[in-house]
Order: sequence, then structure tokens, then C-alpha cells
Amino acid sequence: MPNTETTLTYPQYTSWMRELADLRYANAVLQWDQETYMPEAGAERRSGQIATLSELAHRFFTDPQKAKELNQLLADNSLDEKQRKNVSLTAEDVSQQAKLPGDFVRTMSETVSKSFQAWMDARKANNFAVFAPLLGKLIDLKKKEADYLGWQAHPYNALLNQYEKGCTVSMLDATFASLRAPLSALLAKIAARQQVSESIVKQSFPEETQWQFSMDLLEKMGFDFRAGRQDKSTHPFTTNFSAHDVRITTRIDPNDLSNMTYSTIHELGHALYEQGLPDAEYGLPLGEFTSLGIHESQSRLWENNVGRSLSWCSSFFPLIAHYFPEQCAGANAETFYRAVNRVQPSFIRTEADELTYHFHVMIRYELEKTLMEGSLPVNDIPAYWHAAYKKYLGIEVPDDKTGCLQDVHWSHGSFGYFPTYSLGSLYAAQFFGAAEIAIPGLQKQLSAGNFGQLLNWLRQEIHIHGRFFTSEELCKRISGDTLNINWFMQYVKEKYRFIYSLEEEAIPS
Ligand code: CO
Repeated sequence: MPNTETTLTYPQYTSWMRELADLRYANAVLQWDQETYMPEAGAERRSGQIATLSELAHRFFTDPQKAKELNQLLADNSLDEKQRKNVSLTAEDVSQQAKLPGDFVRTMSETVSKSFQAWMDARKANNFAVFAPLLGKLIDLKKKEADYLGWQAHPYNALLNQYEKGCTVSMLDATFASLRAPLSALLAKIAARQQVSESIVKQSFPEETQWQFSMDLLEKMGFDFRAGRQDKSTHPFTTNFSAHDVRITTRIDPNDLSNMTYSTIHELGHALYEQGLPDAEYGLPLGEFTSLGIHESQSRLWENNVGRSLSWCSSFFPLIAHYFPEQCAGANAETFYRAVNRVQPSFIRTEADELTYHFHVMIRYELEKTLMEGSLPVNDIPAYWHAAYKKYLGIEVPDDKTGCLQDVHWSHGSFGYFPTYSLGSLYAAQFFGAAEIAIPGLQKQLSAGNFGQLLNWLRQEIHIHGRFFTSEELCKRISGDTLNINWFMQYVKEKYRFIYSLEEEAIPS
């Protein structure tokens, strides 16, 4: 029988994908604007505009005819390795997305917009009950979504897989279980030592000067201002409209210099990844980041492994003292280094130190798992939160705003996202460990304010590959090892041994 169907060529596939990318990135501009410059009264119409573009993009992407053509194109022997990877990843994405009916996508988008508003109102009122009804609706939709997508062993797996391909409850249970004991042991040792002072960063720092410092810092650490910009927002984030237009935001606390500094470096790490993606692959899978865990590995690597190192503090302290001479009088790089590495159980995840951070993530992970199982009524979330913070961090959560209303994620419909934060920090330690082996004298370079070679290495090892390798494949290529918490544990043990003058541990036989 003659083949009467039109066959898709690779160039046609590329233009189709790029049209879709144009739609998606146009939507991203609207979202960026919503969180930076849009006047308050624009919110309602804007959520409609965003929902329409989301639905259009979904319809465009899940065209059944295209799914067929993609499979035919996959059988084309003339495709090279990268082209084949692009097409096969797209075919996979289409088949995943096509499992979600169009009206479901619309309902989800509208519920998310309303939830975001309810979450903001709830925060203002400092009352979880204001958010609870919509959150309950969202959780029901998320369970439905998991069923549409299909899952094995646990419904949460379907959601986890959207952010971190192949990530499962059993893998995360094992990772968190192995982290808990050594982290708790280290925290106990630190708690027994004298606390370090953070007074140097907790002073009055004029907002305008902080802003100038943040722009200077970005430039010195490799942010390309011809291909990006920084603005302010309540919740710092990074978004991009191509590798040549990457937007980051920061926030400024006039009484805490470390808040802006590390939030800026964190988003810088995300931005450097986006600016390093190959522009030639615009709109195609190989032009996109491989997973959220890897994205977060880049932000956490720059924020912690670089930004919270003694080398970075030595290199930047003179600049900090230049901007804030009075506040820095009598202090030195080491004072700053200790202050920004103070370990203390606290309420807010984004402000947590590198050790207690994982407990914040574990608590959210366990809670989301329970919610997806349907074994916890939504109204019991504040009580659950309270008990978990008491149990893992030994602190009494004073109210909802400082507790279960602090993160924006649920109101965005992002369930299964939190674990990527811990994975990112673990990958970061592993990648940075590999970088120290690959780049002789790396710490010396960082002390001298020279970040180029590290950035280049990250570009070659991670950024330029887009989605060609999965997280685990990248991890193995770079470190010769699958994700292994020992890299992280070794890094933090060494760091805090110095800061808190801990006793040398006996080497286990
Ligand atoms: Co991040």
C-alpha cells in the first residue's frame, strides 16, 4: 500500500518545535512580568492570558498527527545522534503530555491562578484556613494528574518523574534515610560547640548600595549582561526566553546582607546554566536543561560550594568593605566566612544553613507523599508541620506564615518539586568535588576572584549537553560515580570542622 501520509522532515520538525518554543517563551515573558512589574489590578486578566497560551501550547504540542509523524521520523536512518536524541525526547514528551486532556490542563491552570491568589491572601492573614479549600482542590487535581500519567508503586512517582526523570519514592526514601543519621550526628556535634557570630551580616545595609553590590557581584562572577538582566521580586527566581535572554530576580533585606548576597548568587548559578545552553538547539530538547535536580545543582554549587567558601569570602571581602566600610570596620574575610556559615535550626527553608536545609526538604517530601496517599486531611497540615519541625529541628513553629505557608510551590501546583532541592545540593557537592580534581589550584583561582575556568568546566561538562544526558548519566560521566551522599558529607564535615573547631573524627576501618 502506498504511503499517502505526509512525512515530517527534520527541518520541519525543528520549525514546528520552534513555533512551540515561541509560544512557551512568550508565556514566560508574561509570567516574568507578572512577578516583577505588572500592576496589581492586572492580575485577573493576566491569569486568563497565561491560561490561554498554556492551553494553546498544549494543544499544539499534543496534536495526534504530529505524534505519528515523530515516530516515523525516528525511523529515519539519516538522522545523526543529536538529531535522533531530539526527536526521541520530543516523542516521549508528547506521549506524556497527551495523557492529559485539554480541559484538565485548562482547569489546572485556572485553579493554580486562583490558588496563588488564595495563598497570598492566606499569607497576609497569616491563616492557613484561607488557602486550605483551594489547596484541597489542587491536591485532588494532582492525584488525578498522577492517574492520567500512570504510575507504579506510588502515585507520587508520577509527579516526581516530571521534575526529575526516573526519580521515585523508593530512591528518595533511601537517599533521605542515609542522610538523616550522619547529618544529625554532625548537627549534634556543632550544637555542643560555641556558636559563631553572625553580627557582621546582621546590620543596617542601605538597599540601594546592596543593589549596586549585587550587580557588581554578578558581573565579576560571570553573568553575561548582554544576555540577561536582574530585577527585584518578593520570591527570587530565574526564567529565560532563550539562552540569550535570561532573567533573574533578587530580594533585599535592609538588615541582613547575606540574604541578598546568597539569593543573588543562587539565581546566578541557575542563570549561568541557562546562558550556557546551546543556542543552536533553541526550542529543542538539547537546548534545554536536563532536570530540575541538575538545575538546582548549578545554583547550589555557586551559592554554597563557591559562595560560602573561605576562598570566595577572601576574594569578595575587600569589595564588600568597599561598599560597606562602616559595617565592615574591624572585620575580615574570616569573620564574614563564619557568619555566613552559621548552623542553626530555623523556620525558613530558603534561609537555612547547608545542614539543616535537608531537614526542611525531608519534611516537605514526607508531607507531600502522605497527601498524595490521601492519608492526611488538608486541614491537618499545620499540625503536621508543627510536629515535624519539633521532631526534626527541635523548634516550635510560631504561626502559618513561618510554617506551612512559606513556600510558593503548592500554590503553583508544583508537587514533587521539593526533593530536587536536596538532590541538587548533593549533586553540587559531587560535581564540585570532581571540579577540584579536574582543575588544579581551583581554590586559589577562586580566592583570586577568577571564576572563568570553573565556569568553562561546567559549560563543557554540563551546560552544552542540554538534555542529551540524564542526571544520573551526567553524574557518572563527571564523577565516575552515581549519586552518592559521601561527597556531600565529606564536604560539610571538612567545612564545619574548621568553622566550629570540631575534633578530628576517627577514620572508620
Ligand atoms: Co533554585
